[in-house]
Amino acid sequence: MKFYELPPAKRRELLKQQGIELDVIDTEVLDELNLLSENVVGQLRLPVGIVQNLRVNGQNYQVPMATEEPSVVAAANHGASIAAKAGGFIAESHRDGIWGQIILQVSENFQAAKLQAFFPELIKLTNNKFASLVNHGGGVKTITAKQEAELLFLKILVDPAEAMGANKVNSILEYMAAKLAACPGIEQKLFAILSNYPSQITKVKVEVPVAIIGGRKTAQKIALLSKIGQTDPMRAVTNNKGIMNGIDAVLLATGNDTRAVAAACGVWSSSSGSYTSLSEWIVQEDKLIGQLSVPLLIGTVGGSINSRKDIKQSYRILGRNITSNQLADIIAAIGLANNLAALLAIATQGIQKGHMKLQARNIVASLKATSQEQIAVLQKLVSSKKYSQAAAREFLQEVRKENNASRN
Ligand code: MEV
Repeated sequence: MKFYELPPAKRRELLKQQGIELDVIDTEVLDELNLLSENVVGQLRLPVGIVQNLRVNGQNYQVPMATEEPSVVAAANHGASIAAKAGGFIAESHRDGIWGQIILQVSENFQAAKLQAFFPELIKLTNNKFASLVNHGGGVKTITAKQEAELLFLKILVDPAEAMGANKVNSILEYMAAKLAACPGIEQKLFAILSNYPSQITKVKVEVPVAIIGGRKTAQKIALLSKIGQTDPMRAVTNNKGIMNGIDAVLLATGNDTRAVAAACGVWSSSSGSYTSLSEWIVQEDKLIGQLSVPLLIGTVGGSINSRKDIKQSYRILGRNITSNQLADIIAAIGLANNLAALLAIATQGIQKGHMKLQARNIVASLKATSQEQIAVLQKLVSSKKYSQAAAREFLQEVRKENNASRN
């Protein structure tokens, strides 16, 4: 039997025979995970944290975030609580559909107009074939064509309804490409594949009275930092990383595809011709106004969303009947919340103060110690502001001595 054909327990045995020490895993969990990927031998765990009271469009949400970076959930909570004091985020999602591409090779005497006349019928045929998508409110919406020499590029917009839709769109495109291949003047179908080009755009905005964030001077510093990010790619990419901290964590917690969003955001940040910040902050009268627009190829059904227990838990936290529109609004708002908290920290005390306090948890987690000892060491690291492994080891000795002394 080939490695990929073996049951996961057998794969683990083989690795153990090679002298690789594997972590213990529950057999039921292992079997569940085996259905999600290939060559599965274990699991990678991520903590899920909560943002309490993210206020978006007048509604409060609890938002699950899956991330290993200790300061991300704290930053999102901080940004969300500032925004809540200012009335919350206002968001708007345009879920028009996701792009697909069909690239055909055409003959010398190909007449584009004749093929274009077939497009309405092709849309009808396809929507009949994929009637269940249409019943859920989706379907093929438009087809546009552009010819370059012997290549015909078709750009197809498909509304995936509540799903992210990658698999469905690819099936649709392959069906359409087969129909197109039989049309006069088409030599052959070359490619049919969805495009991760930005679509499903969400815009989010917050207006924070400057008094809430320590006054006009701080607000102006934030606006200046944001302005720098509009033209300086060195700053822009870090600004965007802070936004993606929040976005990725909600994507992961809700079973969405982080790579699709990251790829689209990369193009989106360069859409003006040079790389720039995804967000913008300005001061107007007595308000700091922040805006963010992001392409969010996300869904609330489909893929592994319906089959993973950990993901189902996230949707229970969010509220059972959340729509993809609402989820996109929430994800963008979290991105802007993280951005606000980061800019505020950088413009005031600097980023390290808060970061290192949280980083200390990672340091103690790597100590070989009981959880009580780890907590005691954490307190010592934070009060001494010494955030190194060496200091943690020294404090552990200290804690153990203190514990022994109090026992005797
Ligand atoms: C760290 O994960 C993210 C920040 O660097 C973002 C930023 O600089 O805006 C704090």
